[in-house]
Amino acid sequence: AQRLIVDVDTGIDDSLALLYLLASPEAEILGIASTAGNVPVEQVAANNLNWLGLCRAPDIEVALGARVPLDCPLRTTEDTHGPQGIGYAVLPDSGRSVSGRDATTMWVELVREHPGEVTGLVTGPLTNLALAIRAEPELPRLLHRLVVMGGAYNHPGNTTPTTEWNVSVDPEAAKEVFDAFSGLPEGRRPILCGLDITETIEMTPDHVRRLAEAAGSVPAEVISPEDAPHIRSRTSNPVIRHLSDAIRFYMDFHRSHNQGFIAHMHDPFAAAVALNPDLARTRPATVDVELHGTLTRGTTVADWVGHWNREPNADIAVSTDPATFFDDLIDRVGRYAKS
Ligand code: BDR
Ligand code: CA
Repeated sequence: AQRLIVDVDTGIDDSLALLYLLASPEAEILGIASTAGNVPVEQVAANNLNWLGLCRAPDIEVALGARVPLDCPLRTTEDTHGPQGIGYAVLPDSGRSVSGRDATTMWVELVREHPGEVTGLVTGPLTNLALAIRAEPELPRLLHRLVVMGGAYNHPGNTTPTTEWNVSVDPEAAKEVFDAFSGLPEGRRPILCGLDITETIEMTPDHVRRLAEAAGSVPAEVISPEDAPHIRSRTSNPVIRHLSDAIRFYMDFHRSHNQGFIAHMHDPFAAAVALNPDLARTRPATVDVELHGTLTRGTTVADWVGHWNREPNADIAVSTDPATFFDDLIDRVGRYAKS
C-alpha cells in the first residue's frame, strides 16, 4: 500500500482528487490536512468530512490547518468553487468531527511514525506543510516523496498574469517548502504539477457522462454544449450526483472565463501522479518564489539550466497523456461510486 498524507483546500478539483484516492485500493490515506485557500479552513474541513461520509469511507482523520497564510491575509475564491467550495453540490452533514490534533501536528507525527514511507500530496496552499517543516526540519528527508499541485513555470498564471493560485495565496509558505527540499537526490525531490501540465487535463461533459455510465447510473440527460451550459445531474447514485453538481459549477466557471465547456482537473492529476509518478515526464529544476515584486509576488521561477548555480530542488512535470489519466480516473471513481 502507498501511505499518504493529503493536504487540501477542498475545492471542486480537490474533491475529485480525494474521491480518486478513496477509490484506489493501493492508497492508504493516513490523514487529511485541511488548509485555507479556495474557501476558509472550517469549510474545507467540513467538505472533507462530508465527502468521506457520503462515500461511506472509513473514519480517516481530518485535521484543521492554518486559518491564514504565513505572512499575508487570506484570499478565497468562491467565484471559482462555489459558496461552500463544492460548486452546486450540497452534501449531507456527515456527523463526523475533526481530529483532536491540528494539521501541523498531524503531519509531523505521522511522518515520524512512518519514516521513509509517506507520500505527501498537497493540492492547496503550502501553509500547513511549511509550518510542519518549521516544527520538524527533517520532514523532507523523512518523507518517501512529495507531490504538489502548484506553480506556473513556462505558462501564464490563473490568479495574476504570472501566478498560480496555490502559490499565490501563500508565497512565503511555498518558498519555505521548496527551499527545504534543496539538496535532496534525484528520486527524492518533490514533483511539482504546475499549470503547464494541469491545464492540459481538460474534463469535458463526455467524461462526466462516461463517469456516470461507469457507475451504472447515466444522468437522465446530458445536454450538448450547444443546447445549454449545464450537465443535468439527475441520477440515482448519490456520489455521482453530488460530484456532477460540483463539476457543473466548475465548467460554468471555465466557460465564463472563455476557456470552453471544460474544467481543469489540476488536483486529481497530482493525486494520480502521487500514486504513479511515471504518469508524468519530469525535468529537474531549481525553483524559487518571488516574494517582493509589485507585479509578480507569488510567481514561481524555475531555473532549468543552472543560472543560479544551485542544486535542483524539484522535478517539474512537463508532459503527460491526458487520455490515459481520464481512462484511469473514470474507471476507478466509477467503480467506487457503484459499489
Ligand atoms: C489550484 O487552485 C485551486 O483553486 C484548485 O483547487 C487547484 O488546487 C489550481 O491553480
Ligand atoms: Ca486545490
